[in-house]
Amino acid sequence: MHSFPHHRHSTSDEASAPKTPGQILSLGWRYDLMIWFIDTFVFRGKLRELRQRTANLARMQPGDTVLDVGCGTGTLAMEVQSRVGATGRVFGVDPGPQQIARARSKAARRNLPIDFQIGVIEQLAFPDQTFDVVLSTLMMHHLPDDLKRQGLSEVARVLKPGGRLIIADFKPRKERQGQAARFHAGGSGMHDLADLVKDAGFSPVETEEMRPPRFSAFPGAGFVRAHKSYEFAIT
Ligand SMILES: C[S@@+](CC[C@H](N)C(=O)[O-])C[C@H]1O[C@@H](n2cnc3c(N)ncnc32)[C@H](O)[C@@H]1O
Repeated sequence: MHSFPHHRHSTSDEASAPKTPGQILSLGWRYDLMIWFIDTFVFRGKLRELRQRTANLARMQPGDTVLDVGCGTGTLAMEVQSRVGATGRVFGVDPGPQQIARARSKAARRNLPIDFQIGVIEQLAFPDQTFDVVLSTLMMHHLPDDLKRQGLSEVARVLKPGGRLIIADFKPRKERQGQAARFHAGGSGMHDLADLVKDAGFSPVETEEMRPPRFSAFPGAGFVRAHKSYEFAIT
């Protein structure tokens, strides 16, 4: 098993969120309850499908080292652990102390060796070229544009050459129609996001759309899948 140096947090540090211009959530079990309710009764299972699709697009192999950035309460990271097996390693990072506490307790209950850390995308506490895969679901719309740029260059730094990045996010509000237009959470324009990903040193960069089902308030979502180019230079 690998071990990575990372910032140690004292017990009092664990209780406070790091500073970030990103919009931090720290709801713990209430986040899971809210997501379960919305997905079951309002989105008709589309959030679950979005996470599965994110994991499928990453084409994970047993033994891969994977980071879920903005991992929330760790639901996707736990799915990923089953795909990379005992020889793989899974890490999750989120600035919300209650999100991380909840993620750790869920993983401990299932006996999964996932390393959840309090942290932010703009300053990842991992060495260069650590990961085969970096994932991010429903997180990008929590960041202002300059922070997205900073975060994506950190992601490029910690990915191995040829490593895969998969980002999933809701459609932006201006593209929603019908019932979905009433859903308040933010989203990302996939083409804008794809351009930022290219600028961060990824190629090729592809996008994919997940359409909302009829008679559902699911706002629709998009995916960006990209490879860190082999020419990427760390400055
Ligand atoms: C809507 S939640 C999504 C959580 C999880 N990925 C999921 O799919 O359920 C967005 C998460 O992004 C986190 N976040 C906000 N600012 C961040 C930053 N600068 N770096 C990393 N994560 C951040 C929030 O704390 C929150 O848990």
